[in-house]
Amino acid sequence: MPYDTLLFEVADRIATITVNRPDKLNALNDTVIRELGQAIDEVRTRADIGGAILTGSGRAFVAGADISGFGSRTPVTAAELARRGQEIFFRYENCAKPVIAAVNGFAMGGGCELAMACHVRLASDSAKFGQPEVKLGLLPGYGGTQRLVHLVGKGRAMQLLLTGETIDATEAARIGLVNRVVPAAELLDAARAMLTAMLANAPLALAACIEAANAAWEVGVREGQLLEAAHFGVLGATSDMREGTAAFLAKRPAVFTGA
Ligand code: COA
Repeated sequence: MPYDTLLFEVADRIATITVNRPDKLNALNDTVIRELGQAIDEVRTRADIGGAILTGSGRAFVAGADISGFGSRTPVTAAELARRGQEIFFRYENCAKPVIAAVNGFAMGGGCELAMACHVRLASDSAKFGQPEVKLGLLPGYGGTQRLVHLVGKGRAMQLLLTGETIDATEAARIGLVNRVVPAAELLDAARAMLTAMLANAPLALAACIEAANAAWEVGVREGQLLEAAHFGVLGATSDMREGTAAFLAKRPAVFTGA
């Protein structure tokens, strides 16, 4: 599918989605948001894609929602904007295939929120993170107030939300906002290596892990464990489970088919 504001490349079962408005630091205007939704739907539905890497062109990952469109919003249209972005970011978080954010530069506002909606975050050593919305008289509107609390804890989230401060990649890793920091030149290779390791595993098991781990944010421990047991039951009847266990006992690599 052709995109105006994204690059979408597929190699070795990995889709690389690159937000491509470098002159505006990849700020999220209506077109970018819409195309991000189309891109994750393409990842979800294409059989030749096992997972995705999300990154940005130039010196930013994404510097937030496009501020130039804010002045003309009414309370109703601003709330609609937030709901639309939330729904699309939700699709990233709930994609049954792993999605890694390769944060190559500024991840501010909606950019930090977009990275948080991905399953794993790798950051270049030059990346910067922040939720500066309060400086604009706003709050994060794409799920940031919720995901930040879950990822880094309420106290650290409150500090970032209320100061609007910018933190570097090392600090982001220290507080659990990113999984790992790598030199800028190695970022995409590191993301590809991690995703390749994930894609060597059974696809149905990956999807089940994503769904069960996401449920931990939304349901109680008992309900979450019921879901876990149900997935465990289904996976226990798959060909891939038989292949994985047989391969282990035969001391050979498993070859999974997703069945
Ligand atoms: N929306 C719209 N345009 C944006 C943008 C955003 N969120 N972030 C950056 N840009 C644009 C700038 O207006 C500028 O455009 P111009 O060259 O036409 O003037 C261009 O991107 C480069 O940004 P600039 O501010 O000159 O780069 P910088 O290196 O001095 O600063 C940032 C980088 C990220 C610190 C700064 O751009 C910034 O604070 N951006 C806004 C972050 C934000 O508040 N996001 C939350 C929005 S709700």
